[in-house]
Amino acid sequence: MKDNRLDFPILSKKVNGKQIAYLDSAATSQKPKQVIDAISAYYRNNNANVHRGIHTLSVEATEAYEGARKKIADFVGVKDPTEIVFVRNATEAINLVAYSWGRLNISKGDEIVVTVAEHHSNFVPWQQLALENGAVLKIVPILDDGILDEEAFEEAITSKTKIVSFFHVSNVLGTINDVKRQVKIVRGKRPETRILIDGAQAVPHMAVDISKIGCDFYVFTGHKMLGPTGIGVLWGRRELLERMPPFMFGGEMISKVEFNKSSWNELPWKFEAGTPDIAGAVGLGVAADYLNKIGMENVREHEIELVDYAIKKLSKIENVEIFGSLDSKKRGGVVAFNVDGIHAHDVASILDEEGIAIRSGHHCAQPLMDYLRIKSAARASFYIYNTRADVDRLVGGIEKVKKVFKL
Ligand SMILES: Cc1ncc(COP(=O)(O)O)c(C=O)c1O
Repeated sequence: MKDNRLDFPILSKKVNGKQIAYLDSAATSQKPKQVIDAISAYYRNNNANVHRGIHTLSVEATEAYEGARKKIADFVGVKDPTEIVFVRNATEAINLVAYSWGRLNISKGDEIVVTVAEHHSNFVPWQQLALENGAVLKIVPILDDGILDEEAFEEAITSKTKIVSFFHVSNVLGTINDVKRQVKIVRGKRPETRILIDGAQAVPHMAVDISKIGCDFYVFTGHKMLGPTGIGVLWGRRELLERMPPFMFGGEMISKVEFNKSSWNELPWKFEAGTPDIAGAVGLGVAADYLNKIGMENVREHEIELVDYAIKKLSKIENVEIFGSLDSKKRGGVVAFNVDGIHAHDVASILDEEGIAIRSGHHCAQPLMDYLRIKSAARASFYIYNTRADVDRLVGGIEKVKKVFKL
């Protein structure tokens, strides 16, 4: 891949006197100057509220916002941009479905299926819905190498399963689910079961064509794909979104308000109450342009190469345990690991002294931590701006950790 590091101003920053090695893109990606400049240019030149005014700036802002929606629809293979709802992040997208679709469709005795490796944002909303409505939350296990246990997955789906909600790429194990095949498994057992896929770790890292997956809802989040924070995406099938009640009430989302009743705007604005994050959408649209220019196949190839290199290097360090499959083709750009007897936070803080940024902790996946019988893990995650030199620095940093702890 062409060296793009100069596009990312933050990467020239020094941390603790050392050039930063940013290995935490699964938490949030860095932003290229093209995105930063687009947000600044929007505020400098086009800022106004959307869909409200007939003055020129308002028309420009509306065109920029709706133009971004079209770009995002194209980016993930969605033909109808009005099925793309802008939300704050993946978390809000899942909560929207759990509240709106969930409270309409889930009642006592119904079953909701998730997996043990979900991020909390795709776990807690369903857990709480189940608790509130007397439904049963079924949790499907994974196999030893982190791959979804498809036999258990199939078995979990019964005549009572109303929705299955699962990850596309795991933020801890890096596992890439074969979502197309898993959707077929669900449809084979109970065609009317709704399927939500959490694509927060997939869309930034590989070509995703939602129209080919066959699911009912798909969510992702802008800040992990070079976009700004505060903007995320819910895609839903039109007929489902149309039947769902609004998630929030207020301006923008109404068609008519009378003293004692109101009616709702069309899709997608029915779900976008209040002034949206216009600049965020503009930035996200430019992030999609940037990724398109590189080509998502190249993004994926670059990450396979880096993960492969990282796994080979880390496996050679004594006392390091890597979680998930060791086959780089089966995983996304994250490598979670632990160093024997050393808390992941200690690993992360010694690496930070060396200017290396990794994530440590439970990664918002406490059920998975319990399942793996660990309290926490360290995680290095890669993106388009990382190089083998970053991996070498990580390896050197881990050697330092071992020295400090006399391992
Ligand atoms: C797999 C997965 N799902 C959902 C989320 C939530 O994303 P956000 O915090 O942007 O809502 C994350 C964030 O780390 C994630 O990794």
